[in-house]
Amino acid sequence: MLSKSTYATLSLLLPIVSSQLTQVVAVGENGLVFTPSTITAPVGSQVEFQFYPRNHSVVSSAFDNPCQPDGKLFSGYMPVSAGTGPDVFVITINDTNPIWYYCSQNVYV
Ligand SMILES: *[C@@H]1O[C@H](CO)[C@@H](O)[C@H](O)[C@H]1NC(C)=O
Ligand SMILES: *[C@@H]1O[C@H](CO)[C@@H](O)[C@H](O)[C@H]1NC(C)=O
Repeated sequence: MLSKSTYATLSLLLPIVSSQLTQVVAVGENGLVFTPSTITAPVGSQVEFQFYPRNHSVVSSAFDNPCQPDGKLFSGYMPVSAGTGPDVFVITINDTNPIWYYCSQNVYV
């Protein structure tokens, strides 16, 4: 049976356990780069890509086959005229394997 003090400890811990970490990556804010270009994201956390002009995408690829889609992740193209676009691309980190990604836009419009 749980004592009163155990309950107090559990209710203190719950908000910490249930809060989910989300890290933001800017796509195209500072030229044709991701900012930051590298992150470490724990399993269960999320990474949110925010898109800037003009029309970028996020596509996963293999380290030994860069800038070729591996078919796992594709945000779609995100046309933005100014500032941050209304749509974000959010991925959930399921494991500790590295994910390599690039922008697949090949026309400058
Ligand atoms: C965004 O880029 C994609 C791929 O080049 C293109 O098909 C699409 O028409 C573009 N959208 C806009 C609004 O420019
Ligand atoms: C994590 O798993 C979910 C559900 O299977 C999947 O939709 C998602 O694409 C996975 N995340 C990554 C980064 O592969």
